[in-house]
Amino acid sequence: MSQEDANLEARLEEQETFEPPESFVEQANVTDPDIYEEFDENWPDCWERAADLLSWDQEYDTVLDDGDAPFYEWFNGGELNASYNCLDRHIEDGAGDNVAIEWEGELGETRTYTYSELLDEVESFAATLRDLGVEEDDIVTLYMPMVPELPIAMLACARIGAPHSVVFAGFSADALATRMNSSESEYLVTCDGYYRRGDPLDHISKTNEGLADVEHEVSDVIVVDRLGDDLEHDLADNQRDYDELVAEHEDASVEPVTRDAEDMLFMMYTSGTTGEPKGVKHTTGGYLSYAAWTSHAVLDLEPDDTYWCSADIGWITGHSYIVYGPLALGTTSVMYEGTPDYPDKDRMWEIIEKNEVDVFYTAPTAIRAFMKWGEEYPAQHDLSSLRLLGTVGEPINPRAWKWYYDHIGNQECPIVDTWWQTETGGMMITTLPAICEMKPGTAGPPLPGISAQVVDAEGEEVEPGEAGYVTVDKPWPGMLRTLYNNDERFINEYWEEYSDADADEWVYFPEDGAKLDEDDYITILGRVDDVINVSGHRLGTMEIESAVVGVEGIAEAAVVGGDHEVKGEAVYVYAIPEDGYEDQGDELEGKAEEAILDSIGPIAKPEDVIFTPELPKTRSGKIMRRLLENIASGNELGDTSTLRNPEIVDEIAEQVEAD
Ligand code: WT7
Repeated sequence: MSQEDANLEARLEEQETFEPPESFVEQANVTDPDIYEEFDENWPDCWERAADLLSWDQEYDTVLDDGDAPFYEWFNGGELNASYNCLDRHIEDGAGDNVAIEWEGELGETRTYTYSELLDEVESFAATLRDLGVEEDDIVTLYMPMVPELPIAMLACARIGAPHSVVFAGFSADALATRMNSSESEYLVTCDGYYRRGDPLDHISKTNEGLADVEHEVSDVIVVDRLGDDLEHDLADNQRDYDELVAEHEDASVEPVTRDAEDMLFMMYTSGTTGEPKGVKHTTGGYLSYAAWTSHAVLDLEPDDTYWCSADIGWITGHSYIVYGPLALGTTSVMYEGTPDYPDKDRMWEIIEKNEVDVFYTAPTAIRAFMKWGEEYPAQHDLSSLRLLGTVGEPINPRAWKWYYDHIGNQECPIVDTWWQTETGGMMITTLPAICEMKPGTAGPPLPGISAQVVDAEGEEVEPGEAGYVTVDKPWPGMLRTLYNNDERFINEYWEEYSDADADEWVYFPEDGAKLDEDDYITILGRVDDVINVSGHRLGTMEIESAVVGVEGIAEAAVVGGDHEVKGEAVYVYAIPEDGYEDQGDELEGKAEEAILDSIGPIAKPEDVIFTPELPKTRSGKIMRRLLENIASGNELGDTSTLRNPEIVDEIAEQVEAD
């Protein structure tokens, strides 16, 4: 039994539940339990409530258009601009001096942007992009770390109707090139570097390496100077300094471009079962409404709040819940550049105390690390400003949940365990913090208006207590509209499994396993495809495998996830050396690691690379991944007699133990 299962078991035995604290309920945004019924009865018009959180240039005609399902359209006829909604309208309402972004640099410096200041810089940068030739619907790639210029660039793109494609700064040069090639993006904003544990980290060399592999012409590249004198480098002829350009456009005013509700706001690449990343397309009206609505209903955000989501903006969590959701609501959003243990292991709690953070949203992997470091670190700080806590990215084990509840929330803050995906745009399954009781380890019921169920392989709903697969059988405004330039893959990946196309019945399949309880609470068990979840980040095992088999001397490889105390899952590589390379294990291991760093980045660094003369295969020649996962996790192996080569199993297991 895996650790996760063991924890789940423990919770089910205890059946411990927690009520929302009265002090929270009294002030919450959403308090009426009838909201679930109201949304059901009034579906899909219930989603007007989300759209009402925005300012529209032109009212929409229809809430949902399902004429060409599963290519659903939301708020058709409506027109709006996302940057107007995140900036101008708050200023028009007199809130221009409220803080929009409070940035904490890793070295201890801070930068504060009021809504007015943020709009000024967004306009200057929007004018810069236009001067560079960026037109409406051109895709702008942003390969940037956690500096304020990243949300500024996103909002500047949104202002002129140019969709952005943010590539996580931790990704490799190859990953940048793959994404720019796939989106045919001709514009790039990047950064010279950033700080990690106090040391400057070169980002511009990686950028240049990636650009060398971009197959089409790229216009001038804009480079943010984060490192100053800490990194000596010359800008190439086509590279322009961000600050200079913004200064040249200091007083520029750029009217927000009116966009159709269904116009693309951004795309974001995510890993899938094949090696090719998927370009998830999100829209202006539906996505923004949904990000704002879930920030309002689940994160309970209000303009007076100081809120901190510790994710990186390079992932969907940062898009929806550092930038678009909180800023659409006029909240103060804290943004931290660095690592949680620099200069010391109390950095997070110091930031919360200093900024008097009201709502904090982080990942289970971070909580498990905090737990390991010890409760003395949060105990050094006054965390009493907090009123709500959230988690996202992977299942949270009940022990970590309880630690978060006790030591960060002081038993006074509800916790929302929010299940969602890059594709869903926003939260889908979680408790409403003032209404639902909490069950540690269990995300909760589907949100109002979200029709999610747990089904068996045939699509029949399972009985309480049973495990199955998550499905969603009604659309929602924040959903992805398609995969960029690939409608066919969109259908294959998400709709094929459970839909009945002839009957025009469409069921979205997120590829997660789950369990249902008697209160219709859903416990997410993890991915059921060849995707692993390392520290809350989605990695495709095929992508890693193809990097490894590219190494000279490696004939075949299988990559699986094994349990990891802090990361949730860790990457394990099993590889077969080519003839003549059997004695070069150490060297090959180094090369395999390097290949993974080059093609993906440090997040995919393997925990172990195990060389074996064979991989365990079924009689039909399929690699038994489940078995390799169990070996990596140190679990019982079960029956291996149906294998074509059962003898190899013990050999591999011994080697893993020896490593
Ligand atoms: C996958 C999506 C959503 C933003 C971060 C990750 C897993 C996400 C939870 C949760 C259990 C979760 C799922 C999902 N996941 N949240 N609260 N409990 N699992 O976005 O990279 O698109 O990954 O993360 O397996 O499918 P992503």
